[in-house]
Amino acid sequence: MNRRTLLRLGLAAGGVGIVGVGWPLGQTMLGQSDPGRLLRSQAVLPPPYRSMLPVPPRLSPLASDATTDFYAITQRVADLAILPGLSTRAWTYDGTFPGPTIVSRTGRRTVIRHHNALPVPVAVHLHGGHTPPDSDGYPLDLITPATGGSPAGHDGMADDMMRNSVVEQREYVYPMRQRAATLWYHDHRMGYTGEAVWRGLAGFHIVQDDEEDALPLPHGARDIPLMITDRSFAADGSFQYPAIDGGGVAALYMNGVLGDVVLVNGAPWPVLETDPVRYRFRVLNASNARRYRLALEPQPPGGSALVQIGSDGGLLTSPVTHDAIDIAPAERFDVVVDFSRYAPGTRVRLINALETGSTADVMRFDIVGTDRSDESTVPERLSDGVMALERSHATATRTFLFGQGRAGMWTINNKPHKPGVPAATPRLGDIEVWRFITDIRHPIHVHLNHFQVLSRNDKAPGRYDRGWKDTVDVAPSGAVEVIIRFSDYHGTYLVHCHNLEHEDMAMMADFVTI
Ligand code: C2O
Ligand code: CU
Ligand code: CU
Repeated sequence: MNRRTLLRLGLAAGGVGIVGVGWPLGQTMLGQSDPGRLLRSQAVLPPPYRSMLPVPPRLSPLASDATTDFYAITQRVADLAILPGLSTRAWTYDGTFPGPTIVSRTGRRTVIRHHNALPVPVAVHLHGGHTPPDSDGYPLDLITPATGGSPAGHDGMADDMMRNSVVEQREYVYPMRQRAATLWYHDHRMGYTGEAVWRGLAGFHIVQDDEEDALPLPHGARDIPLMITDRSFAADGSFQYPAIDGGGVAALYMNGVLGDVVLVNGAPWPVLETDPVRYRFRVLNASNARRYRLALEPQPPGGSALVQIGSDGGLLTSPVTHDAIDIAPAERFDVVVDFSRYAPGTRVRLINALETGSTADVMRFDIVGTDRSDESTVPERLSDGVMALERSHATATRTFLFGQGRAGMWTINNKPHKPGVPAATPRLGDIEVWRFITDIRHPIHVHLNHFQVLSRNDKAPGRYDRGWKDTVDVAPSGAVEVIIRFSDYHGTYLVHCHNLEHEDMAMMADFVTI
């Protein structure tokens, strides 16, 4: 049953929908813990480390006034050079993948006018944004193409659900009342997010503030965002994705689509030539379903190569060192690497220790530069912005079960997503504890407000849970508690699994702030 059929049935049934049977905790119907199925490329793949790491272009504002910076992005088809000798037809923001990087300042409004010149409807979501509901990219708030008028693929939708769709262009307004952080923007169209992101609709959106600017961290050309995605290529070089008519993914791939090529900033297994100094890397896993265990190979003498300074929601209180970082889809880890710890000329691979084969390689740093001047340091105190939220201050505790439903759907609390039916109605100003309980592994994301991880399986949070988060990876048969303060903006938001195939197959729920 595809997404469209399901929605039609759900809506036609007048709000009853398809309710899955209860699933017993700890028993998975899938028999595997890391979900996903490999879709092998048909194209001839290049050996790793043949292309240079691209850094996405920074978008300049069209205009700026005392309070606001105005931008425009055209979403269009573009032919990209990713594999040697082939071109890859992609869906892009402004012709590139990743899309252009937007840089905002805390407290200054960012307004982005998106023009849709793609042949499909789109919805733009700023992931990690503290955004009013009408600019949050709710999956039915579409920008439909100028040609083709009606929102194709959504003929099952009740009209009132489609009331926020517009034709051809939409202005997204981001007040940016939030701290410095590495955010990202991506497509969020109902039932098609997995396909749209896979085909190229993702980019960085970085927020900067005075607190962070005052720190002596690596900056400028030594502050580099790394968008990691796995992809699969058809023989002609195009991205292959097992979409089905009406939205969602072929049943075989409903656990998640995995590719056999690792792209960093859109290039396969690229190389960055570095000086023997410190660099800041804003690492984003923008893969649909793949999780990585990132490590440097070789490790520098003494290990602890990855100095984490920030997470999804910005700087940590103080740095934390890692030999390896587990990163689930949509998570960000902001790390500093000091290449002066290696002998000059060393080639350091960034590997994925969860895999063998082509996806065990990610990229390589060749320490061939000779500029040893480095004024950067990583201070022991990074930020005052991460004060712990107290469980005793919570006014509600809510439980969300993430599991497989009937007929190949994914569910939250045994229900596939039903737009307009909130699973929670937190009051603005309140602090709540949300418990996420899983069958198999799910990376769980909450819109609107960042949260802190309170516990994992009733124990202390894990080593990757620090700081403000908006996405938390929950292991199979896991229970993670997060604590959230709902600060402002009334309206409808989403909590969902960020395995994009799970999301498209209905593992999503509305919540309404009241
Ligand atoms: Cu990055 Cu609702 O998603
Ligand atoms: Cu989001
Ligand atoms: Cu999931």
